[in-house]
Amino acid sequence: MAMAYTSWSLLSTRLFCTNKAKRYSSSLLSSTDLFCANKATAAAAPAATVLYCSSNCFCCACNGRRRDLWWSWSSGKHILRCLKQLQRNGTKARARASSVRWDNPSKRLLSTAASAVEVGGVTISRDEVVKEEDPTNNVPDTIFSKIGMQLHKRPDHPLGILKNVIYNHFDERYPGLFHKFDDLSPIVSIKENFDDVLVPSDHVSRSYNDTYYINSETVLRCHTSAHQGQMLRDGYTHFLVSGDVYRRDAIDATHYPIFHQMEGFRVFTPNEWEKAGLDGTTLAANELKETLEGLAKRLFGNVETRWTDSYFPFTDPSYELEIFFKEKWLEVLGCGVTKQEILTDNGQGGKTAWAFGLGLERLAMVLFDIPDIRLFWSSDPRFTAQFTAGQLGIKFKPFSKFPPCYKDISFWISDAFTENNLCEVVRGIAGDLVEEANVREEAQKKLNVILR
Ligand code: DAH
Repeated sequence: MAMAYTSWSLLSTRLFCTNKAKRYSSSLLSSTDLFCANKATAAAAPAATVLYCSSNCFCCACNGRRRDLWWSWSSGKHILRCLKQLQRNGTKARARASSVRWDNPSKRLLSTAASAVEVGGVTISRDEVVKEEDPTNNVPDTIFSKIGMQLHKRPDHPLGILKNVIYNHFDERYPGLFHKFDDLSPIVSIKENFDDVLVPSDHVSRSYNDTYYINSETVLRCHTSAHQGQMLRDGYTHFLVSGDVYRRDAIDATHYPIFHQMEGFRVFTPNEWEKAGLDGTTLAANELKETLEGLAKRLFGNVETRWTDSYFPFTDPSYELEIFFKEKWLEVLGCGVTKQEILTDNGQGGKTAWAFGLGLERLAMVLFDIPDIRLFWSSDPRFTAQFTAGQLGIKFKPFSKFPPCYKDISFWISDAFTENNLCEVVRGIAGDLVEEANVREEAQKKLNVILR
């Protein structure tokens, strides 16, 4: 059953909305134009204002339960009128207004975000990351405000527990050999994020639709592999890098625009492969498989493992490790033998290496029985108090505040529409209250979206 605390409904008000919305004003929970008051506005101006009120509201039959309401407006100048109207009608005045654009949902009229966050002792101000007027920036406040949270550094958080168990595995297998980094800034250059690890120039991950850009040269890292080049240039040959990574993505129980990865990297010298009587690539591949099979058993017990061939731009050969867990094969991580070019370009020519990358949430969801990725961000003690530092065996016990609540909505879109942009808008307004947003049908540029 869904763990929903979701209770948001779509509202059209007679007082504030124009023609199209008026038509639907009697059916509060049904279909209406969402972001633009009418078709003409939608075509002419993808910008629209959304008013959001997160308190008991006068106008929906919510029986006293909390409802989050939002509705469309064609221009920001009406916000104050809307707020006043809400207050007159008895809504507690905790309302927020923002302006969204399909081509860049990070643009907002009013902001309620934190002004600075800290990573690894360095303060990052909002102005450095969220640039509302810059067309090359697509970072919304919702993302910025999470940058300093570093869930993987909390020893009694499932992500911190898992990270430490993996660190212990490496410390026991290779005492004192691996350097660990877990507070490198997530703000990296496109060179680090893509070029250094040979991501092709036309790869989809480079698009504004998939990656959070601070400007045309700088991004929020979309994988911890972004640190491979710099680590090698700094002379590290054995390292583990853990951190938050950022991807514009769909909304559902297993996707969240921020998640956590751990990168592993080990360099081998000619001495090592000569001593082993193997060539450098074979030694790296054998040693990689042994290490990671050991790790899988450490995490999941004595499970069956298998290797499948894969593709990553930075490794050749590339593999995925799978385990047979709860009657099915589960993908655990991606890895491979590092391409020579990466080693040569970064001061480690003449050597070989292995690398792996794993998603901490993905594994923690399985290990702790956590059904929804958004729970990792919860500060509700009913979540946080369930876990203890060092204990991997704990199973999450579900809790629920409200029954699930489904809403079908439809609205007009402009050519600038993409599903990721929609999800960004939904997240910007309703945060984690929305469990899932699915585009149901696209006909003549009219979308039906299901939110729950
Ligand atoms: N960077 C990859 C991702 O985010 C994961 C990965 C795969 C990292 C293979 C590696 C690797 O270092 O060798 O999907």
